Amino acid sequence: MRRREPVTVLVYHPDEAKAYAAPVRARRGRIRLAVCATREEAAAAVGEAEVIYAWKFPPDLYARATRLRWLQAMGAGVDWVLVPTLPPGVTVTRAPGIFGPWMREYVLGWCLAVTQRTETYRAAQRERRWREEILPDRLAGKTMTLVGLGDIGRTIAAAARSLGMRVLGVSRSGRAVREVERVHRLPALERALGQADFVVVVVPLTDGTRGLLGARALAAMKPTAWLFNIGRGAVVDEAALVAALRERRIGGAVLDVFSTEPLPAEHPLWGLDNVVVTPHISGPSTPGELAPVFNDNLARWLAGRPLRHVVDRARGY
Ligand code: OXD
Repeated sequence: MRRREPVTVLVYHPDEAKAYAAPVRARRGRIRLAVCATREEAAAAVGEAEVIYAWKFPPDLYARATRLRWLQAMGAGVDWVLVPTLPPGVTVTRAPGIFGPWMREYVLGWCLAVTQRTETYRAAQRERRWREEILPDRLAGKTMTLVGLGDIGRTIAAAARSLGMRVLGVSRSGRAVREVERVHRLPALERALGQADFVVVVVPLTDGTRGLLGARALAAMKPTAWLFNIGRGAVVDEAALVAALRERRIGGAVLDVFSTEPLPAEHPLWGLDNVVVTPHISGPSTPGELAPVFNDNLARWLAGRPLRHVVDRARGY
């Protein structure tokens, strides 16, 4: 049923609240915007909000969100939304289609940095050395195993295939997907890892994926294989990873996410020469890209029609 009252929409972002609020569109008089950049501003407005459009909304404030019915997440993951304090009746929506195109370029860019031996030639240049004895490698023919086959994983898979890579996948259901040659179920994770030259972790963080890539999984990887983590830090056992990297039991790691962010200055990962550390930038959120997803759902909400991209709260994604 069409909603009659003006609906209070709380836009929350610690750095860019105004930029996210600016492109929010609805017919005149249908919404009231509360633009919040701090916890205090959000605390003052949350009691009135029927809709929240947010990045990392302070979880303790859900207790005061008595009118809240729908939350649109501004990022790729929703683990920060699905906390025990979130009232049970609140619908959570994601933004598929936005992050995959960024992340496929991140993944393939760093795969190519490995096979094109970018570090080696740049180091040789600094020493004015002509190292013609070292050749680049081909990405075509290498195997990529994607752990996680949601819309982001599948977008990366399609791009990897277009460069001639063989692509395997691991998912909870093991269901076949068009972009991937063979999909394994989670119990066959180690078999799928053992075939990979590049392992890309892009599963959401849930009770079932926390610590999924521990010592045993890492031991199943080839000594030349690279691990990419662009999902959530806590999916990989960091202590086991540091040990595998130090002992050169895997080729290297490209890490965009960590169990503690920012990665503490004293963390051993910073100092390893076979690790690339990037500051959680592989799939950035931008106001302009997210606005059409939110505005489409907002129009549906105001018209009383079903929302798109609804998260299964029990499953966690
Ligand atoms: C995330 C993101 O959810 O960066 O981590 O979008």
